[in-house]
Amino acid sequence: MKYRTLGKTGLRVSVVGVGTWQFGGEWGREYSAAEADAILGRAKELGINLIDTAECYGDHLSESLIGQSIAGSRGDWILATKFGHEFHRSFERTDRFRAEEAVRQLDLSLKALRTDYVDLYQFHSGPDAAFDQDTLWDTLNRQVEAGKIRHLGISIGSNRNIHQTSNATKVGAGAIQVVYNRLDRAPEEEVFPSCAEQNLGVLARVPLASGFLSGKYRPGTKFEANDVRSRRGQEDLDRQMREAERIRSEEVPAGVDMAAWALAWCLKHPAVTTVIPGCKDVRQVEANAAAVALVEGGHPQDA
Ligand SMILES: NC(=O)c1ccc[n+]([C@@H]2O[C@H](COP(=O)([O-])OP(=O)(O)OC[C@H]3O[C@@H](n4cnc5c(N)ncnc54)[C@H](OP(=O)(O)O)[C@@H]3O)[C@@H](O)[C@H]2O)c1
Repeated sequence: MKYRTLGKTGLRVSVVGVGTWQFGGEWGREYSAAEADAILGRAKELGINLIDTAECYGDHLSESLIGQSIAGSRGDWILATKFGHEFHRSFERTDRFRAEEAVRQLDLSLKALRTDYVDLYQFHSGPDAAFDQDTLWDTLNRQVEAGKIRHLGISIGSNRNIHQTSNATKVGAGAIQVVYNRLDRAPEEEVFPSCAEQNLGVLARVPLASGFLSGKYRPGTKFEANDVRSRRGQEDLDRQMREAERIRSEEVPAGVDMAAWALAWCLKHPAVTTVIPGCKDVRQVEANAAAVALVEGGHPQDA
């Protein structure tokens, strides 16, 4: 594994982390404790130390599966979770971004994760009106002082959200999480330059374009109703699958696993610290960790 410094947080994170939205059950299947444990156990063996989760991947369900899996090795992990929603049932949530709601969620997350601190606590893709609340950030910064949060972050909803990105330092955040992959390069225009200027760490989410950059899907593929991808229009899905096919034939070197290639592609950008691909099984963790072999040195955040 390779490690980079997550901007001004100073956290040393593996360049490949594990995204765990999947553990919440909205990706076509549910997870037992043993299955989550196998995924995270293999990730640890491979040197991965970063887990991204959220309050609403199930009702703190993903966090609970993580908490029980890493209870004996909490100090070896960097846990990134989020706040801002109440989960009701699959694909149904209510926004909860008021200061007191965030503190309540933090306590629920700590309980589920079986820990007394979160390494990175992220504003979960809320609207600007929710972001622009001084009381929210004052309250969260007091939680940092109290030791319940090590660092604050912002997971921006639109990957062009320059308002939240450019105000990150002002609200006390040290990292941005953003959609970035070979099919969606929007952050290169304004978000990444702002991150570099403020020395913010960057977690590139959806780095496999929801799995399409693994190269295994053909246009026309339909997803089951319990898979979040079924909620997108077929035209949009087909367009991404067609584009992925083109990239596979024009850009991915022969004999190279496309998923690993796609992750290494993200990690080349000087602003990107780490990628957090969602992993559904041990084989995917292994394939994703293997991207490290394709990552060259000389990145600004290596030191
Ligand atoms: N608003 C937010 O803050 C937000 C939003 C979205 C995601 N996230 C975070 O970012 C993480 C990653 O995003 P994502 O999961 O939406 O998208 P992603 O990482 O681009 O795609 C994940 C999917 O790709 C497939 N896959 C993974 N590794 C593979 C491999 N090696 N070979 C073939 N297929 C592979 C799996 O699905 P199949 O095998 O079924 O194809 C997996 O569910 C999430 O888990 C979550 O932690 C945050």
